[in-house]
Formats: sequence, C-alpha cells, structure tokens
Amino acid sequence: MADKLFIPIILGTVREGRASEAVAHFMHTKLLALPDVQTKLIDIRTLDIPWNDEGQALAKRNQGFVDDIIRADGLVIVSPEYNHGYPGSLKRALDVCFEEYERKAVGVVGVSNGMIGGARMIEQLSQVVRRLGLSITKTDLLFPRAPEAFNEDGSPKDEKTHERCAVFLNELLFLAHSLKWGRENISE
Ligand SMILES: Cc1cc2nc3c(=O)[nH]c(=O)nc-3n(C[C@H](O)[C@H](O)[C@H](O)COP(=O)(O)O)c2cc1C
Repeated sequence: MADKLFIPIILGTVREGRASEAVAHFMHTKLLALPDVQTKLIDIRTLDIPWNDEGQALAKRNQGFVDDIIRADGLVIVSPEYNHGYPGSLKRALDVCFEEYERKAVGVVGVSNGMIGGARMIEQLSQVVRRLGLSITKTDLLFPRAPEAFNEDGSPKDEKTHERCAVFLNELLFLAHSLKWGRENISE
C-alpha cells in the first residue's frame, strides 16, 4: 500500500472521570500498531467551543482539528451513551467541520456502564455521521461495563476484546482504503 491511511481517534466526551478515556487510549494503541496507518488521539476537551456559537463558524479557532479532519481518511469515534444518545459535547465538536468529512470512513466505539455498551447511542450517531458525508462501518465495537473493563496497565480484562477490535478495525480500514481510492480516482 503506497500511502499510509490517517485515522485519528476522537475521544467524544468532556466528562470529569470519563471511562471513555481508557477506551480511547486502547484504540490508540491498536491503531499505532498497524503498519499502514498513522493516527492521533483528538480529545474534544482541547477544542475551543464557546456557548455563544455553533458549527463551522468555530473552524478558525480550531484550525488544528479542521486540518486533522482534512487529512483524515477515516475516523474512530469513541463515545459514551448518555440517556441513550451521544454527548452534546461530541455533537458540537463534530459540527465544527462539514465538507471535510465527505466520502471518508468512520467506525464508532460505544462505551457504557450498562450491559448494552452504547449500541443505542450508535444508532443515533449513525444518522449524524451520514449527514456529515461519512460512511459508517456495519461493525461496531462495544464496551459494556466500561469502568471495570481495563486492567491498570490499560489492557482489557476480557481477552476477546482484542479479536473484536481486530474485526472492527479490519472493516474500517477496508472502507477507508476504498474511499481513499475513490476520492483519488473517480471523477464527479
Ligand atoms: C448524563 C449521563 C447519562 C447517561 N446515560 C446512560 C445511558 O443511557 N445508558 C448507559 O448505559 N449509561 C449511561 N450513563 C453512564 C455512562 O454509560 C458511564 O458514565 C460510562 O462510564 C461511559 O461514560 P463516560 O465516558 O462518561 O464515563 C450516563 C452517564 C451520564 C453522565
């Protein structure tokens, strides 16, 4: 494969004590280990999103984020489930960009302390990412009981997590490669 894919991870909550942070670090480790991928962890806490504005009007004050989305071939969004939906903070962060997402891939990693692992949140977020022009994987990666899911060294307690993560990333990379080829070779 000639060029490496750039697949950043978006940590999609600003909550104090967020369990999603350990999940995002786990995903970061997994993507760093892939030879044909470059990645970085984007913590939405680092974005400058004041309460008196929304959307692309905030792009200039978040140029680093915009540049990352422009460069990205795909995204991994790590998001908790809040009242069966995605965090408002994640939506406000995603709304900073629009056409920069067009014809790129996304996979969503759901996080919850319940047994469902964020599946209901993913159903809602899939509607949003579709509007943004992103193509979402059919395979999700779910982390139920997330606050107890990791050892102190950041490794998952359930060994099967590695296999589930590999299946998820495999599909995401296929989609990201395919869409990159399409963007570069198919004219409108
Ligand atoms: C506002 C709010 C709403 C929540 N709603 C749900 C929910 O609908 N379903 C669920 O399983 N967990 C829910 N939780 C618990 C989260 O799943 C829990 O905080 C988990 O650790 C993942 O989120 P975190 O990254 O913020 O820690 C909610 C938490 C908050 C703060």
